[in-house]
Amino acid sequence: MKTKQIVVLIGTLGLATSLFASKDAEKIFDAKCAMCHIKTMPTNKTKLIAPPLMGVMRHVKMAYPKKKDAVAFMVNYVQNPTKEKAICMQQKIARFGLMPSQKGNITPKELKEVSEWMFDNFPPANFRGRGMKNGMRSGSMRHRPTFSSFDTNGDGKITPDEFTAFQNARMQSKMGKKCQGMRKKRRPSFAYFDLNKDGVITKEELLKVRAKKQEARAKAGYPMRNAANAPSFESIDTNSDGKITPDEFNSRFN
Ligand code: HEC
Repeated sequence: MKTKQIVVLIGTLGLATSLFASKDAEKIFDAKCAMCHIKTMPTNKTKLIAPPLMGVMRHVKMAYPKKKDAVAFMVNYVQNPTKEKAICMQQKIARFGLMPSQKGNITPKELKEVSEWMFDNFPPANFRGRGMKNGMRSGSMRHRPTFSSFDTNGDGKITPDEFTAFQNARMQSKMGKKCQGMRKKRRPSFAYFDLNKDGVITKEELLKVRAKKQEARAKAGYPMRNAANAPSFESIDTNSDGKITPDEFNSRFN
């Protein structure tokens, strides 16, 4: 009898939560994430137990500028955080520790809603780090240049020069000390290869992206480049586990 009641109770609560969820993603965030990720600028940084929400979103958007990609990354990461997938820097993980998996605390559906809400609202338009003139304010994320506009010579890689020119200007400001290294490591090219946004690049993804690039070049009438010149998957996957992590990628290309 008792167990039955409990089961019913849990079921009801579960249902209530999921109905609630679709109504108010921010409330879910408040209930499930805000105890670690504060929504405001920290007044006392020594009290932080996790990076504040605006910092988190700033970095997520740097690596995954498109909402769809960013949400996919977050949904994956929050349920299965690993050092390899983390887009932020080791210093941050060294300081706060790896985020505990939230699997079980939040349903995938809620997580998706929360992630979308996070993407839409953070960092806020008046975030100090975004202190740039006209046109670089809140809407600018949506008007970010595409990968190919950075990759001016169309070789599938963003060279330091291609990238820094634009990006430096916007990131100079307030990324927070924790992730400084990020500015030097030109991460977005990783996301370009990580087709399913699971935080690692498989051989299949690498080859697919390269093939697409070649195809595009051929269509545009450029000569085919010798594919053998491109570094092999195996040479990038230095620990030979069949996945290229951001670290492996960046130590090879940046
Ligand atoms: C117990 C504390 C805690 C809770 C609860 C928590 N986080 Fe985190 N989170 C962390 C810490 C610590 C980090 C930084 C280390 C890392 O990236 O794993 C982090 C990092 C992240 C990142 C950035 C990942 C990266 O690679 O930079 C995202 C996105 C994130 N959290 C989302 C969420 C969401 C969404 C929730 C609520 C469902 C949540 N977190 C709940 C502690 C927490």
